[in-house]
Amino acid sequence: MTTAHESETVKMQTTVKPNSLADVAQAMRAPGTRAIGTGLETRGIHAWFGKHHALSNISLDFAAGTVTALIGPSGCGKSTFIRTINRMHEFIPGAAMAGEVLLDGKDVYAPGTDVTKIRLQIGMVFQKPNPFPSMTIGENVLSGLKLAQLKVENKDELMQECLERAGLWSEVKDRLGAHGGSLSGGQQQRLCIARALAVQPQVLLMDEPCSALDPGSTLRIEDTIRHLSETMTIIIVTHNMQQAARVSDYTAFFLSEGGPGQMIEVAPTSDIFSRPQDERTENYVTGRFG
Ligand SMILES: Nc1ncnc2c1ncn2[C@@H]1O[C@H](COP(=O)(O)OP(=O)(O)O)[C@@H](O)[C@H]1O
Ligand SMILES: [Mg+2]
Repeated sequence: MTTAHESETVKMQTTVKPNSLADVAQAMRAPGTRAIGTGLETRGIHAWFGKHHALSNISLDFAAGTVTALIGPSGCGKSTFIRTINRMHEFIPGAAMAGEVLLDGKDVYAPGTDVTKIRLQIGMVFQKPNPFPSMTIGENVLSGLKLAQLKVENKDELMQECLERAGLWSEVKDRLGAHGGSLSGGQQQRLCIARALAVQPQVLLMDEPCSALDPGSTLRIEDTIRHLSETMTIIIVTHNMQQAARVSDYTAFFLSEGGPGQMIEVAPTSDIFSRPQDERTENYVTGRFG
């Protein structure tokens, strides 16, 4: 079923011109106005794969309770950048990095830091929905807790809360025992979001979470992102300019010009679409390349 609001947005998605995206972008919310920590900062991040310098000197702040979109052509290092944030990059053979990632002022790379704990605080949702197909829907939601050996008082309550926050509860409440693999792609992705939420992360990294989904599922996930951002910090990689305009408070434009990927410009999303400072940003957001 499509609500009036959704069908209106679907229409907008298909008819909007890139240069009017600034009107779509929502009014920026003042960073730091929510009592949910100080957020996330990256300082001078570089990344390498063997000798290949993939990312150069990225410094970005992500205020608590905001959504930041990362945009830019394929291969400019967006995925690599977010993998440095939750320490997934270092598990790729031959990969190296430099720089600092501060969560609530603490460096997640400080010696002695428990990587498992970082992954709990900084969750991730991938492009291709990856629920455990033969686990039930309910087990999928709670699977992260089990892996991290976390105990909770009331599992059923938590399961429902996570499914509600992920915007999936009403569709699955009568079949929590069905396999995760029996859901549609869009539902599977929301199940993955619910699973990420169960361990109560402060930050959620989303790497093109909608690129494999139909427009209706995409809008449902965007709705979920807006709701979630009331209580957490979200970074979303997207190739969909309309999506960046609809869900994010800030947008950062990445580009690699024959060398390592760089961050060209970051600004409130409406500014990136209405008055980008850099000509390359303008060319990209108006669809001239990429
Ligand atoms: N696992 C990997 N091994 C080697 N090179 C990689 C790997 N992942 C990404 N790269 C390289 O790093 C650069 C950035 O890639 P990526 O972060 O995936 O870009 P994006 O997400 O913006 O498309 C590219 O040149 C890519 O080929
Ligand atoms: Mg990528």
